[in-house]
Amino acid sequence: MAGACPPALSAAVIRAGGMGACGALVLDAERIAAWMDAVRRDIDGPVQMNLWIPEPAPERDESAEASQRAFLARFGPEPAAETGDFRLLDFDDQVEALIAARPTVASSIMGLFPPRVVKRLHGAGIRWWATATTVGEALAAAQAGADAIVAQGMEAGGHRGAFDSATAERDLVGLFALVPAIADAVDLPVIAAGAVADGRAVAAALTLGASAVEVGTGFLRAPETAVAAPWADAISNASPEGTMITRALTGRPARALATRFVRAAAEPGAPPPAPYPVQRGITAPMKTAAGRERDVERMQAWAGQGASRAVAAPAGEIATRLWQDAEARLSSP
Ligand SMILES: Cc1cc2nc3c(=O)[nH]c(=O)nc-3n(C[C@H](O)[C@H](O)[C@H](O)COP(=O)(O)O)c2cc1C
Repeated sequence: MAGACPPALSAAVIRAGGMGACGALVLDAERIAAWMDAVRRDIDGPVQMNLWIPEPAPERDESAEASQRAFLARFGPEPAAETGDFRLLDFDDQVEALIAARPTVASSIMGLFPPRVVKRLHGAGIRWWATATTVGEALAAAQAGADAIVAQGMEAGGHRGAFDSATAERDLVGLFALVPAIADAVDLPVIAAGAVADGRAVAAALTLGASAVEVGTGFLRAPETAVAAPWADAISNASPEGTMITRALTGRPARALATRFVRAAAEPGAPPPAPYPVQRGITAPMKTAAGRERDVERMQAWAGQGASRAVAAPAGEIATRLWQDAEARLSSP
């Protein structure tokens, strides 16, 4: 979970028998190394490091950006025109740092690692787990040499991993349909992601053909995750329909709490968001103000449809309970 994955969260999950995870999107090479050092100083165990596959630079539309900035001025300080110039970190530098950090697994989202990267990863003994939101994406990942598929259902919190952002809202496949379909289509382990936040869901995912689960929102209330308190609190009250897929926070479709801002951006007549990562830059002043004022209604508050099942407990306890509950359900006659 980029921006919500302190080393302490991974260390606690590893200690409980799970795999740690680092969303490295927002980390430069130095911080990738520092993240891994911090985990390894604490505990040795399996770790996944995740990168987003970059898209070509977006087409800019000055007048559309101006409308978007005027809209955002209703929710925070009016963003300066330069906020739209936001640049992502260099992908190749991040790949080099990831390989040097030697995680157990490198995972991808929003596309596939290019063949040269797959070769380097495998040469370094690092496995590749590719996120897929459709059967077609899973087949493409298998063909490209992935070692496992992370099946991300449309329930999932955070960004949708669809390879093509343009079809991410059209191809909304739920986890109950996605996991068995991918398990049947590819001869690789499947890791289920999306609204898995209690033992019932873990047992269901394993029954459907998954070999493991990936939990995001279910850890957002753990103290180790250290997300802003208003966000963590709002999660506990969110019904499944209290989350929405929106482009308004970054320009890429992602599931977030249906806050005042997210709902307003979905109203007819609201200006369309700029593409990723332009929208991410333009919304930054609002998000900064929201953090300062502790106002969840304008925060980037990612959450999956299983949000209300996230519990406020230490991450190790959450992981242990998920597995014990699932095991009890799977072994009961
Ligand atoms: C706060 C947050 C940040 C996330 N960041 C990433 C990311 O950087 N890379 C990624 O592959 N998935 C990311 N995800 C998606 C998760 O990998 C996973 O698919 C999702 O959390 C599963 O659904 P759940 O949140 O309902 O458990 C993020 C999810 C959340 C909640």
